[in-house]
Amino acid sequence: PFRQKFVIPPFLAPYKRGIDPGDGQPVNYYRVTEQSTTMEIVPGIKTPILGYNGVFPGPTISNDQGTHAVVTMRNQLPRKHPVLGTPIATSTHLHGSASLPQYDGYASDTTLPGFKKDYHYPNVQDARTLWYHDHGVHFTAQNAYSGLAAMYIIHDPVEKALLPQGEFDIPLAISDIQFQANGSAMYDDHSHSGLWGDVILANGVPWPVMNVKRRIYRFRLLNCSISRSFQFHLSTGDPLIIVATDAGLMPKPQPVREYRHANSERYEFLIDFSRYKPGQEIVLRNKSNPFNIDYNHTDKVMKFVVTDEPFNTNDPTARTIPTVLADSAVMHLARSQSKITRNLQVERKNGEWKLSGKSWADVIASNFQWAWANPGLDDVEIWEIENRSGGWFHPVHIHLVDFHILSRNGKPAFAYEEGPKDVMYVGENEKIQVIMRFEHHKGRYMVHCHNLPHEDHDMMIQFRVGLKEG
Ligand code: C2O
Ligand code: CU
Repeated sequence: PFRQKFVIPPFLAPYKRGIDPGDGQPVNYYRVTEQSTTMEIVPGIKTPILGYNGVFPGPTISNDQGTHAVVTMRNQLPRKHPVLGTPIATSTHLHGSASLPQYDGYASDTTLPGFKKDYHYPNVQDARTLWYHDHGVHFTAQNAYSGLAAMYIIHDPVEKALLPQGEFDIPLAISDIQFQANGSAMYDDHSHSGLWGDVILANGVPWPVMNVKRRIYRFRLLNCSISRSFQFHLSTGDPLIIVATDAGLMPKPQPVREYRHANSERYEFLIDFSRYKPGQEIVLRNKSNPFNIDYNHTDKVMKFVVTDEPFNTNDPTARTIPTVLADSAVMHLARSQSKITRNLQVERKNGEWKLSGKSWADVIASNFQWAWANPGLDDVEIWEIENRSGGWFHPVHIHLVDFHILSRNGKPAFAYEEGPKDVMYVGENEKIQVIMRFEHHKGRYMVHCHNLPHEDHDMMIQFRVGLKEG
């Protein structure tokens, strides 16, 4: 660990800018190609990957709120996975975006090699850290593990005034990988229970070292591992100051010594490096969570080395941690607004993963008509997610909506979860209540476990908004 340099994935520039004839808003047009290539993750060893524009993590797309994006996604992958030999058909999901159903990466709405699809993203939501990843039916885990994952950012004026920007605003995608002797990534999902690698990657680099200036930095941490959850903390015992959850800024910052971070959750935190001396080294570490497989070095993530390089001291975000952040609508939803409380059971039955007894196989069998819930457009509902699977944890993701965690096992949510979210960590025997408004679009959307081997086998169902049965 700690031999390679920290890198930031490339930002993607639009190839064209325009105006939306419908609402007069600006539109940025992007081209992304899904490619099969190799990457030197470990120096001197070529590892086959599938990458957006041939890199992992793929290029970051960043826009201001209100600027729409159209991403032309070209599938130039081979017909079969180069290492695993499985068939390739991709569907791109922008996780965290309230996209129309036809642009939401619906698992069975796949694009075959040699074809392309335009995805339209509204970017009307508040500032947040999103990510795009493959969602192809039954092969999401291996496609995302092979590299089809990238970050996506929406900026807004509130966040720009309060939090570090530019070189002090760091996209940080953390994942794990296991190599075979020939340099290719090993894929063994332990009979669909999960895959836990022995090498930790930060932005695609094993345990990198990042030089930092003596000021406040903002990290947008995405856990894009397919199965591993983390318990992040600093080697100094100093706090990580959490400022945003999956779907945007929290009401106020929450300093924590450590926190639990499931797959696909995004937490933004600040670290104040002004408290350290030049030359000091600080390690971002990981403490094990139940139901992960750990190895010698999976307790380490990356290292910061403090430098005395100059920076603009007039930048207010360099020294000041805001006391108030944002006032997001979802945080104000009250129980009394909810039309219904639904109970979703997370189960393992006869060796199969299920959600309230159903799976994606049932959705396919119904020709995509059957839905577990049918909220009306703009309805508020409470969903109670209950883990009855016996000895597992499941990060449950609801598409389309932002939710607020009302309770965790009858108690309040953890302080660091008190923000707008779209994935919840459902630990062993836990019961979690979330509240949300089914707004923005009518249509069919998925709900699933984001431990991706679980999702693929077949822990995913759907709900329909504004399309009541009968
Ligand atoms: Cu990040 Cu349905 O997924
Ligand atoms: Cu699961």
